[in-house]
Amino acid sequence: MAYNDIVFLAVSFLLIICFNLSAAQMVPAMFVFGDSIVDVGNNNYLQLSFAKANLPYYGIDFPTKKPSGRFTNGMNPADFLAEKVGLPTSPPYLSLSSDSDKNNVSFLTGVSFASGGARMLDDTDPFLFQSIHLTQQVDFFSTVHEELQKQVGASGAEKLLSKSIFAIVVGGNDILAYSRSSNLRNKTTPQQYVASMVLTLKAKLKGHWDAAPQEGVTPKMKNAMKK
Ligand SMILES: *[C@@H]1O[C@H](CO)[C@@H](O)[C@H](O)[C@H]1NC(C)=O
Ligand SMILES: *[C@@H]1O[C@H](CO)[C@@H](O)[C@H](O)[C@H]1NC(C)=O
Repeated sequence: MAYNDIVFLAVSFLLIICFNLSAAQMVPAMFVFGDSIVDVGNNNYLQLSFAKANLPYYGIDFPTKKPSGRFTNGMNPADFLAEKVGLPTSPPYLSLSSDSDKNNVSFLTGVSFASGGARMLDDTDPFLFQSIHLTQQVDFFSTVHEELQKQVGASGAEKLLSKSIFAIVVGGNDILAYSRSSNLRNKTTPQQYVASMVLTLKAKLKGHWDAAPQEGVTPKMKNAMKK
């Protein structure tokens, strides 16, 4: 099976943490974490990655008609969600962090860390350098969090994040890794494996907020993670 099959897998956990979806105009920003289902171009910035949607006919139905790094012919769920709440699609984090003029970079309307092939359980990954895994995505978010605090102050960042949408689409590549590894299948039942995925996801997301300095923590987000 070609590696590309991994990034096409449609079975993923979709978790959208949002606090004010009903008041669409109140959503100031969207932060996207996950895999190829919501990747909007991050993998194009990974030098070693083969998991890139940068050739025809990806993007053929996209407004630009060109490959955009999305693993689809047109818009993906990240685009549709952004459209729904009246925001521009959150740009790929790596496109911003590689910008030579750092002062120009703004995370105020959100950013996407999603990466084709990404997994939540990094230790099951034979393709270590090809994707930005969830742990790394959360680390990138910590950097963004600090940057926001510098730009709009601690309470400004808290206010912004407490009203923002966090969209997380990840898990399909972990399930594929399980189905392909007889070692994993011998060690754990499918139920145990999925349970460990859920625990891991919770721990990784919660980790950031517990580590954050108190004045920078968004209480609503923190409460959501405790559930
Ligand atoms: C930086 O920002 C200025 C003013 O907003 C803009 O004119 C310029 O094109 C930007 N440069 C880059 C590299 O995005
Ligand atoms: C898993 O178990 C099967 C059947 O018992 C065995 O043939 C196979 O070698 C095992 N795989 C690994 C990686 O241990």
